[in-house]
Amino acid sequence: MLRVVVMVSGGGTNLQAVLDALRDGKITNAEVVGVISNKKDAYALTRAADAGIPAVCVSPKDYAERAQFDEALLAAADSFSPDLVVLAGFLVILPAALISRYRNRMINIHPSLIPSFCGKGFYGLRVHEEVLARGCKVTGATVHFVDEGCDSGPILLQKAVEVKRGDTPETLQRRVMEEAEWQLLPQAIDRIANGRVTFEAGHAYAEP
Ligand code: GAR
Repeated sequence: MLRVVVMVSGGGTNLQAVLDALRDGKITNAEVVGVISNKKDAYALTRAADAGIPAVCVSPKDYAERAQFDEALLAAADSFSPDLVVLAGFLVILPAALISRYRNRMINIHPSLIPSFCGKGFYGLRVHEEVLARGCKVTGATVHFVDEGCDSGPILLQKAVEVKRGDTPETLQRRVMEEAEWQLLPQAIDRIANGRVTFEAGHAYAEP
């Protein structure tokens, strides 16, 4: 059983997609053993509680120094002894120690087709605003492993989504979630849990 910890900051719809996929047998050989939020009022915490999953909040507001928060975050992750850390809308700059501890064992979902619309400042609705501002006809989502850069680690899965005339950032965000994110993240966890992910020359590959 792959022990999965999910880190969240907000609504937690991606967390919910993972929990639903586990319930429906679309992810096998894995369990979510803990949820970590940096925000006390994140609705994702309610979703975790409803599913009976231990959840903790580690908020930067509770620490005088960033280094103390970093330590507490790492300790919280370690406390669940995870095999895989999943960043599902976790909007915090990661401590270097967390990245190196979980190298090739930490994935992130990003709401665009990396390397477009990613990196510093591109998160949440901002991404979709920029996609619309550029007049793109196609966007999507990406699951990638996490390295020291911002959205720069090995890409594992991607899915394209159509941009429609008249889209608002909100309608586009919803379509990207429904058609890409909520499918890709469970798929990625299932592939990892079942040993169907390999690395070669710095790239990651998932077998169907
Ligand atoms: C998702 O769209 C996710 O891709 C995005 O935040 C949202 C969280 O929604 N993540 C990023 O932008 C990371 N750069 P959720 O809390 O409902 O899953």
